[in-house]
Amino acid sequence: MALTRVRFAAGRVGQWKIDEVRVVRGETLPDASRLAHGEDAAAPPAQGASWSLEGVRSHERYTERGERESLVRVQPGLGRPESTRGALIPICKRASWWELSQDERRTIFEDRSHHIAVGAHYLPAIARRLYHARELGGPFDFLTWFEFAPENAGAFDELVARLRETEEWRYVDREVEIRVRR
Ligand code: HEM
Repeated sequence: MALTRVRFAAGRVGQWKIDEVRVVRGETLPDASRLAHGEDAAAPPAQGASWSLEGVRSHERYTERGERESLVRVQPGLGRPESTRGALIPICKRASWWELSQDERRTIFEDRSHHIAVGAHYLPAIARRLYHARELGGPFDFLTWFEFAPENAGAFDELVARLRETEEWRYVDREVEIRVRR
């Protein structure tokens, strides 16, 4: 199966205007006014960008069959015309997370932090895509991308606040929230 790669490039060009960069934990990212992103042939060039981040679409690690089936029924695709607000949230987890076994991580992720159950409350308002970046050796483990209509921006704020209260988030050691509009 061909690997789907993504690049997010921030600089002076791009479909999305950067409204705000909120540093949740750790180091921020350099200033930029616009954000471009695309997969494979649609990826924006890294050259000339203030910063760029790359990731790949990958298989699911934690989602059980029933959870996936429920998500697939309600989760919307990206690119809805009314989704004129977006957020790129690159995240890095601590070494102590990666030292856990797969079953320990799943227990923290869903049984104790309810990541999927909490997230599901915000569907279909929020469209999302998860990219993995850890194996590419970049500064973040994950690039998470969200799109929503302006009237759902408050719901998105509530969602990220709820997730940041969870046990899973104690393992996050760098997180930057880049809020954009088009
Ligand atoms: C919109 C509602 C959301 C839903 C339905 C949702 C659902 C999921 C699911 C199903 C996974 C597991 C993928 C797998 O099995 O490997 C996942 C992973 C992840 N999500 Fe969410 N999510 C949501 C919102 C968020 C938000 C707002 C953030 C960031 C603030 C976030 C960050 C992540 C990260 C970093 C992972 C990877 C975790 C890891 O592999 O350690 N998610 N999400």
